[in-house]
Amino acid sequence: MTGVNAVGGRDGLLAGKIAFITGAGRGIGAAAARLFAREGAAVVLAARTESQLVDVVNQIRAAGGTADYVLTDLTDPGSVQAAVDTVIRLHKRLDVAFNNAGVSIPHTPMVNATTENFDLVSAVNYRGVFLSMTAEIRAIRATAGAGAIVNNSSVGSFRGAPGLGPYAATKRAVNSLTETAAAEYGPEGIRVNAIAPGTTMTGMIRRWAEADPTAVERLNALTPLRRAADPDEIAEAAAWLLSDRASFVTGVCLPVDGGLRA
Ligand SMILES: NC(=O)c1ccc[n+]([C@@H]2O[C@H](COP(=O)([O-])OP(=O)(O)OC[C@H]3O[C@@H](n4cnc5c(N)ncnc54)[C@H](OP(=O)(O)O)[C@@H]3O)[C@@H](O)[C@H]2O)c1
Repeated sequence: MTGVNAVGGRDGLLAGKIAFITGAGRGIGAAAARLFAREGAAVVLAARTESQLVDVVNQIRAAGGTADYVLTDLTDPGSVQAAVDTVIRLHKRLDVAFNNAGVSIPHTPMVNATTENFDLVSAVNYRGVFLSMTAEIRAIRATAGAGAIVNNSSVGSFRGAPGLGPYAATKRAVNSLTETAAAEYGPEGIRVNAIAPGTTMTGMIRRWAEADPTAVERLNALTPLRRAADPDEIAEAAAWLLSDRASFVTGVCLPVDGGLRA
């Protein structure tokens, strides 16, 4: 499919695509919304904080892109369905979706984790991705017919993650949902992949660093590239996986982690 890139005037990686992005008000999701729009997609941003969504939408429109937002709470099944319905109402179609939204909880050994925090990460990171993905697959089937989904996992999903037990388990669940959906919907031409970011400088990491000032330094020392990622570097991987340039890639959980898993 061809189209006009909002900035360069050439075909972009996602030219002509209708893209839905959760958690797009800040961090990796906001970087993804801006990048996908630069690459030619019309983007619909979802999250709960309206002021942040408005800011990102305005930035994209000011750069010549097409962007809208829909207030969405991933813990509410009706809200998730309404968000996907809004994409169809606005654009008559859904081609690609980035299920990026997620929450972290204070780092602590498992025995100290509260059931409230366990339920919170489960509701947003696991059930929220399940609700989003299933609503998106139904919408892609009913409109574009074929498409692609990327879920945002974490490098912490692949092995033991001391201090992050309940969070990391939700991300392992995301990997499982990704692989199963890839197997179930591949025959229809719907690709489903995940990315597994390493340390990425967003509010989520900055909040952790406030409580533990050497945390980022320690993670960087374990990372072969010896630094944290900029959110744009994570968004690039999602953009490629969602694009037709990744047309034979499905069912992978791609580390985007500076080598942290290696
Ligand atoms: N930063 C890292 O180092 C890192 C590493 C590995 C994986 N990740 C993953 O990357 C994703 C993005 O993280 P980030 O670092 O960009 O975090 P962030 O800056 O805190 O952004 C999280 C986004 O998710 C949204 N969100 C949270 N709860 C929501 C809910 N109930 N309903 C709808 N939206 C909700 C937030 O918006 P509202 O609060 O306004 O709803 C926000 O837009 C997450 O899945 C995270 O687990 C991050």
